[in-house]
Amino acid sequence: MKKTAKSLFLITFICLSNLVFGQFVANYDESKVPEYSLPELLVLENGKKVKTAGVWENKRRPEILELFQNEVFGKVPDVSYELSFQVIKDNIEAINGKAILKEVEITVSTSEGKLPINVLFFIPKSNKPVPLFLTLNFYGNQSIHPDKNISLAKSWLRNNEEFGITENKSNEATRGVRAYRWEVEEIIDNGLALATIYYGDIDPDFDDGFKNGIHGILKDDSDGNKNDNWGSIAAWAWGLSRAMDYIVTDADFDKDKVAVMGHSRLGKAALWAGATDKRFALTISNDSGCGGAALSRRKFGETVWRINDSFPHWFCGNFKKYSDQESNLPVDQHMLIALMAPRAIYVASAEDDQWADPRGEYLSTYYGSQVYKLFNEKALSEQKMPNIESPVVASKVGYHIRKGKHDVTPYDWQQYISFARSCFGLQ
Ligand code: GCU
Repeated sequence: MKKTAKSLFLITFICLSNLVFGQFVANYDESKVPEYSLPELLVLENGKKVKTAGVWENKRRPEILELFQNEVFGKVPDVSYELSFQVIKDNIEAINGKAILKEVEITVSTSEGKLPINVLFFIPKSNKPVPLFLTLNFYGNQSIHPDKNISLAKSWLRNNEEFGITENKSNEATRGVRAYRWEVEEIIDNGLALATIYYGDIDPDFDDGFKNGIHGILKDDSDGNKNDNWGSIAAWAWGLSRAMDYIVTDADFDKDKVAVMGHSRLGKAALWAGATDKRFALTISNDSGCGGAALSRRKFGETVWRINDSFPHWFCGNFKKYSDQESNLPVDQHMLIALMAPRAIYVASAEDDQWADPRGEYLSTYYGSQVYKLFNEKALSEQKMPNIESPVVASKVGYHIRKGKHDVTPYDWQQYISFARSCFGLQ
């Protein structure tokens, strides 16, 4: 066999055996990114060009939102529910006397049952309403800061040897185990509040056929189509909106200055929350990758096939159609970014987090940002990836790539704080 024929045979064999044995080999070679053409952001389904903000808002945006709902994240069931808010802790001195700690229990009630969701707030002492970051966390509210006043998470927790989490329960030793990811004092010193929810309070992150969490009490199969039922990312995003329902009622906060922020899978949820709920003035995606800020068609690092295979409960059933068939997707993630316009969006990547495809995250921000021009706002001007730790900001759109791994670092928070302060007119 000639050398090229031999290597062709080898590649085909590897691909076939990967498919048969379910293994996955991520592509990290830019030269192997397939050629792709993105779905047109500014062309209506009827083929007409979108030339004004009005046509975008009234026609194109709803078209794109519906496509993401039906084909990617799934629809929130059309079922009525009631919310009640109970302030369970308030006015507790925190962060060396610079802030107060507050906790609010949101209870969602439906005909099927009740779900408590605990929201923790650190609020800078101030005599006027303050802007805030609303976030989800991975290991319980008590994991983000060692303050003993924070209630321990009560819902299912992922076991973690390093954090001493066994039997899927939180415990005293888990206080502050993730504090290094949360620049609480820096946020407070900059005049912003921080709110956080343990994501498992909304929907525990494992595949149980959608029996637990909000899925268990908010469901509607009346249209007979299960393929567009909401996945966990849509549920987490929905929970962020319910926290917003509370925030708008609390005079401590400036409801027009709320930033929704998330890391990784929770960055995907933050993006979907920002897309579906216009009350969020700013959306921040930290290393959200596949199904988040990264373009799916690049198939770089994690792919649609791989994410559907590893996390079948995150997206809706229809999304499975696009496993290894990315070019059939009626959307790509630049359209998700565009749904934020004219509100603010910031996307961040990490150099060593190739699994999340930093270039794909930048490109979707670049392409998505073009819609801001319809609102007489600047779009990102360079298709070329910015240098490491040289953030690019075009008024309402920001992006950075920093050194290091998949994580949330002080560098990330510094950029978010400074971008939020500028968007919110604090400087
Ligand atoms: C996995 C998954 C990613 C996700 C990440 C996380 O790596 O493949 O899509 O973003 O977990 O949430 O930590």
